[in-house]
Amino acid sequence: MRGDQRMVSEAKVIELSDIVVSFGQKQHAVTAVDHVSLSVDKGSIYGIVGFSGAGKSTLVRVINLLQRPDSGSVVVDGVDLLGLSTQKLRKERKNIGMIFQHFNLMESRTVFDNVAFALKGSGLNKQERRERIEHLLDLVGILDKQKSYPDQLSGGQKQRVAIARALANEPNILLCDEATSALDPKTTLAVLKLLKEINQRLGITIVLITHEMQVVKEICDTVAVMDAGSIIERGGVAEIFSDPKHELTADFIRTATHVEQAEQTIVEYAKGRKVYELKFSGERASEPVIVELYKRFGLTTNVMYGNVEYLQNTPLGTMLVTFDNDDHLDSAKEFLNGEGISIQQVNTGERRA
Ligand SMILES: Nc1ncnc2c1ncn2[C@@H]1O[C@H](COP(=O)(O)OP(=O)(O)OP(=O)(O)O)[C@@H](O)[C@H]1O
Ligand SMILES: [Mg+2]
Repeated sequence: MRGDQRMVSEAKVIELSDIVVSFGQKQHAVTAVDHVSLSVDKGSIYGIVGFSGAGKSTLVRVINLLQRPDSGSVVVDGVDLLGLSTQKLRKERKNIGMIFQHFNLMESRTVFDNVAFALKGSGLNKQERRERIEHLLDLVGILDKQKSYPDQLSGGQKQRVAIARALANEPNILLCDEATSALDPKTTLAVLKLLKEINQRLGITIVLITHEMQVVKEICDTVAVMDAGSIIERGGVAEIFSDPKHELTADFIRTATHVEQAEQTIVEYAKGRKVYELKFSGERASEPVIVELYKRFGLTTNVMYGNVEYLQNTPLGTMLVTFDNDDHLDSAKEFLNGEGISIQQVNTGERRA
């Protein structure tokens, strides 16, 4: 039995159990993290998404004990961090790199020296340090900027310095707190691509906080949705995107898949006709549903919008359609649901705008 438990935990690089963090006193107390448990698979990219104030930063700061929880346990790489002396904790923390929205670079030091700072006390000699730093700057694509100062760099370049610095001590884990929130969409994609490369080439586990589902869609394997200090939904990215259980999750996803924008246009264009959203995932995406609807129920489907995206190699399709009549709609809905395709009327007025 014990052997089994050990095997389970070995695949988990981070295990937070029943974490509570509150700020302030008594009636003014805010529970920022409310009994949250989180386990992260080794080598994965785990996204935590939620609105401002949901408790994301507080939760992620518990992982390296920048924030000590009121209660709960924190196990990283099999080590119970709350049981460590200050000195041992300092050593374990080197295993956890962190990057932030505003980069947190030292303005008076060059790019090279910003990374070198993280290697203080590393025991490397001057030559080894130089090699490590140049290797890292090359990895993040800014070796040519090593003598520049932060104010001479673009936002994307600054974040690359911050990433190099976070990797200086060869951590197994990289925590990213809104690391792309200050960047434009194109630079965001470039930085996300770099993070993915780091994950794949170096096998580093990444925990990434964001308020943008788009970011999650781009690189995460797993996602947890946080609201008011709790995780309200979690799972594989393809699974959550194709079948969100919680209204808030569905809201986040809609903004990330461009459907919302298409919907508004199409509802106007449909001029009072009922518009339905069909969603399908996996194998279903390529099945000739529309032909089947005609053959089985004599329903002619007008496709107003169609989109297929690939999440972790799973196709995820959305169509906005109208039908020429409502006669067999209930049977058609039953058929579609049986095929694993969800159907929902868009312009009922019931759904939130
Ligand atoms: N040091 C602190 N002292 C008091 N309250 C705090 C402190 N840090 C966070 N909080 C409170 O805890 C709650 C969660 O904050 P947190 O920063 O974790 O949210 P977040 O999800 O990261 O938000 P954002 O997206 O804006 O960064 C908020 O109500 C916040 O005001
Ligand atoms: Mg935050």
